[in-house]
Amino acid sequence: MDGKINILAIDTSCDETAAAVTRGTKILANIIWSQAALHAKFGGVMPALAQRMHRERIDWVIERAIKKSGIKTEEIGAVAVTAGPGLAIALEVGIAKAKELAEKWGKPLLGINHTEGHLLSPLARSKETRGADITSEEIFPAWGVVVSGGHTEIIAADKPGKYTVLAKTSDDALGEALDKAARMLGLGYPGGAILEKMARSGKKSAYPLPLPMARQGTTDWLSYSGLKTAMYRLIGSMGNDLSEQQICDLAASFQNRAFQHLERVVSAQIKKANNTSRRKYLLAGGGVIANIELRRRLRRVAKENNLRLLVPYSLKLTGDNAAMIGVAAAFKTAKMATDFTAIDRLPRWSIEEV
Ligand code: KG4
Ligand code: ZN
Repeated sequence: MDGKINILAIDTSCDETAAAVTRGTKILANIIWSQAALHAKFGGVMPALAQRMHRERIDWVIERAIKKSGIKTEEIGAVAVTAGPGLAIALEVGIAKAKELAEKWGKPLLGINHTEGHLLSPLARSKETRGADITSEEIFPAWGVVVSGGHTEIIAADKPGKYTVLAKTSDDALGEALDKAARMLGLGYPGGAILEKMARSGKKSAYPLPLPMARQGTTDWLSYSGLKTAMYRLIGSMGNDLSEQQICDLAASFQNRAFQHLERVVSAQIKKANNTSRRKYLLAGGGVIANIELRRRLRRVAKENNLRLLVPYSLKLTGDNAAMIGVAAAFKTAKMATDFTAIDRLPRWSIEEV
């Protein structure tokens, strides 16, 4: 034994029913049952459907996670669950199950912030990795970027549990904007990944889409609504039948501007804080970090600022998952509660309030 405990982690914040078993920052099992295909025909996540599917699948993902981890149920030392942010009625399912199990097993329970999970996801290590865990002293203070379907946040992470949001979106999240652009191009939902694929065969300077907030000259927050409207008008002006090449060019042009905007704000925020010397890493997490082009650009921003970009080691850790919740929990075992009534859903929980 190395003094660390095995944690059963659960996340039901949106449309993935997820359970994982972690030990420190090591992932022993990470099971995700995605409902995305069920929501696709509605063009967005239907909360009531998400709740019903979470209820149907939660026991199954937990059983599989424990079985795959190779540990016995008695060896689980604590339960961690996403308490927010997320869809209230979806969060509720995971929280109720986590309380039920923690009580049954007589183990402590931790309520974890989903954004913090994404932020710390680059610290997760695979089961096979040898050697000691990375300590928080080595990593923090650090910078962070969380980009997903619900979040676009640039964060100063002083230490686990102490975060300041330096900039965030005032309207759509980056992933949401990419999804909407994909939908305008008839690429289905959620379309971020397919937009990336099309963009690879397109020319990013093919269409003159605006760089968000360039005219306002601010890098204090992000906004994607203007870019979205410009894309909508542009497509409208092009008639009904877009060729494959036009779709690829539009995808590349939109993605380029959307990423350029993020890069600009990340870079400006890091420079503004002017204490990069103490920070060595830029942690990047969330569904959109699956995007190779975005990783390349963030790596460049990191390099320009003498930082190292850390991204999750596997694509399974970029989108919603429970392993990242277990990893975040490993940094705050001191906050474990045995009074479960204190843990409740927090649909709008900011990472600054953890
Ligand atoms: O983290 P996530 O699974 O869920 C939230 O917490 O929101 O992120 C989902 C988002 C979606 O908007 C999806 O289109 C986007 O991540 N995404 C991508 C890629 N893969 C997923 N965006 C760009 N490129 C990708 N390869
Ligand atoms: Zn998420």
